[in-house]
Amino acid sequence: MTNTELAKGVYWVGGIDWNIRDMHGYSTYRGTTYNAFLIIDEKITLVDTVKHPFKDELIERIKTIVPPEKIDYLVINHVEMDHTGSLPEIVSLIKPEKIFCSPMGHKALLDHFHQEDWPYEIVKSGTELSLGKRTLQFIETRMLHWPDSMFSYLKEDGILFSSDAFGQHYATSERFDDEVPMSEVMEESAKYYANILYLFSPLVKKLLASVAEMNLDIKQIAPDHGIIWRSHIPTILEAYEKWSAGECTEKALVVYDTMWNSTEKMAKAIAAGIEETGVSTEIINLRYTHYSDVMTKVLTAKAVVVGCPTLNNGILPRMAAFLMYMRGLKPLNKIGAAFSSFGWSGESLQYLKNSLEEMKIELVDDGYRHKYVPNEKALEACTAIGNKVGAAVKGIDKDAE
Ligand code: FEO
Repeated sequence: MTNTELAKGVYWVGGIDWNIRDMHGYSTYRGTTYNAFLIIDEKITLVDTVKHPFKDELIERIKTIVPPEKIDYLVINHVEMDHTGSLPEIVSLIKPEKIFCSPMGHKALLDHFHQEDWPYEIVKSGTELSLGKRTLQFIETRMLHWPDSMFSYLKEDGILFSSDAFGQHYATSERFDDEVPMSEVMEESAKYYANILYLFSPLVKKLLASVAEMNLDIKQIAPDHGIIWRSHIPTILEAYEKWSAGECTEKALVVYDTMWNSTEKMAKAIAAGIEETGVSTEIINLRYTHYSDVMTKVLTAKAVVVGCPTLNNGILPRMAAFLMYMRGLKPLNKIGAAFSSFGWSGESLQYLKNSLEEMKIELVDDGYRHKYVPNEKALEACTAIGNKVGAAVKGIDKDAE
């Protein structure tokens, strides 16, 4: 078992989950890590723990540095079980002098583990804790992404332990951003933002501004998942600035499900119409692409066009799941349109339009539905919708032309 030294006396002692492929509905093709950090000082401090099955891995890594019983302090930046599932056994093993958590963290720990007699020490934003030669400063980050979430900043070493923020579900034997392909790290960072933090974008914006005002000398950002940022800190901060501001590229997604390929034909005709305007287009059949991957694309695409046939007076279940998921993540600054094929009742078009409007996605067209199999005229109507979507992505009002 190995550990990794971030700075003199500061170690990564987490667990690597090579096999996880689903984190509450989010597809994690590259696995993940549960990062925990050990600071050796006059007060030996463990920052965060790990998901329950990785308890032994955590303990073995700690043992390569110090007997676990020597740990004095525990810092709990976030109570979600992927970081605290092993906490009861870790507390029993090390018997910490103090457990530091935010005010909401204290409540959440009680609600999870029902241990009134643990030695809690509640800390608020700005509280500083001397570990001996080093100082930890706490920064509450409520709702990023749970009420209890906080950052801990190790002042002398310039290490920001950022909990879930800036993380990625990315299992690797390497620990730092300059040891792995940046394309993979940024892809996983975008997916993480799109699926975990997107709905909190206004709070992310505020947090980035307030952290900038604090003038912290950040040399490393150590999230609780994935690699540690030390060489590409500006890259991830700039990406978070863009994502939280809802910046979009000139790209359109045509997302659909289909029964007998009629909706698929319409999707292709709409995509062809968008392409005619020079706007980059991606056609996504929900049968083959997981909704959490679609969300990664939604994060930066300007247009989201959705299509689905009518089934049982409603829509197909895969589209229903995608719309429900996207609605919860509150997409920013999007335009869209809807289309559908139908047999007799034809409710799906209105359902799709209502869903997009509920998400505050601006509809650029009334939408189009066609009975059974689309003919040439129907496909031309779809292409015309595509033209309109493409023009809207480019900021041109087709109706006013
Ligand atoms: Fe990685 Fe919100 O837990």
